[in-house]
Amino acid sequence: MIFESHAHYDDDAFDEDRESLIESLQENRIEYVINVGASMESTEQTYELAKKYPFIYAAVGVHPSDTFPLTDKDMNRLKELAADEKVVAIGEIGLDYYWDEPDREIQKKWFKRQIELAKEVDLPIIIHSREAAKDTLDILHEYDTGNYKGVMHCFSYSPEIAREVVKMGFYIGVGGVCTYKNAKKLVEVVEEIPLEHILLETDCPYLTPVPYRGKRNSSLYLPYVVEKIAEIKGVTTDEVERVTYENAMKLFLNK
Ligand code: NI
Repeated sequence: MIFESHAHYDDDAFDEDRESLIESLQENRIEYVINVGASMESTEQTYELAKKYPFIYAAVGVHPSDTFPLTDKDMNRLKELAADEKVVAIGEIGLDYYWDEPDREIQKKWFKRQIELAKEVDLPIIIHSREAAKDTLDILHEYDTGNYKGVMHCFSYSPEIAREVVKMGFYIGVGGVCTYKNAKKLVEVVEEIPLEHILLETDCPYLTPVPYRGKRNSSLYLPYVVEKIAEIKGVTTDEVERVTYENAMKLFLNK
């Protein structure tokens, strides 16, 4: 059984077949899904999906690239949603200096505000960090009280940084990118980080694994990621599924 820790089934890319695709997941061994909010609008849609499907849980939060219009009222709304039992994380939150908008100070402000909210409501955080390793680590260290729960999703940094975030208590999110030819750094990360600190994710509709790279992604392609991780670590695919499933259960569902 597979635990999908990062999907965006609210995305327009799924408008045509959302219902039938979601309904096919469990018969294809995708046991649980965390659908992740990226804006206030997608957070509301994520919440609706989690209320509709028992096996979908919600992360509520705003991606760095969508922080420009945020207000205190939005933070209150996130807090209100966080009280629901189907909401299991704050995310995705963080810093994105690849797209580099809005202004970095605005991204940092709302990253911090959402970390504070997660601590207040005692939920894990799902971190998005792209080309912003130093500032991300600085902020995480600033708020580190020794009890972080969360994941650095779509991990794109070095093994050294992976070790540092794992030491703070975070999991490393690994998806389709590990199957790409140019994924040398991520392969090294997977080699070095124990399976007990890795979560499976798609970030669908994006980052489709080989051999479907370029097509729309969905949780149904996670077995290709499982296979690659098993190959890198020299373990069975069953072992990869079992351990990453237990990791996600512990982090998001307290089981
Ligand atoms: Ni995402």
